[in-house]
Amino acid sequence: TFVLPDGSRRPIDAAEGMSILEIAHAEGIAIEGACDGSMACSTCHVMVKKGLETCNEGTDDEFDQLDEAPVTTLQSRLGCQCVPNGTKDIVVEIPSVNKNLVREGH
Ligand code: FES
Repeated sequence: TFVLPDGSRRPIDAAEGMSILEIAHAEGIAIEGACDGSMACSTCHVMVKKGLETCNEGTDDEFDQLDEAPVTTLQSRLGCQCVPNGTKDIVVEIPSVNKNLVREGH
């Protein structure tokens, strides 16, 4: 289930092996992915509110890049790197603000 910035919820059935960003884009849910998953931005930042334990482990590089996101929590992941294994339903919140360093030219 995606929780959109306006608070609405979108339950989704996703194929296994897809990242949260790929799942969102397949469903027409707007999460930015300015660097196309190469861990060079943090525009795909999401918070996995439920089921984080069923996702792959984040890497040091991922968490370094997450430091660039404006507001992070212990449940923060890069949507392009986070792949749920499908054993449990997960709840993913899309933050209302994200920083697009690529677009802003910094
Ligand atoms: Fe840029 Fe995920 S799309 S880090």
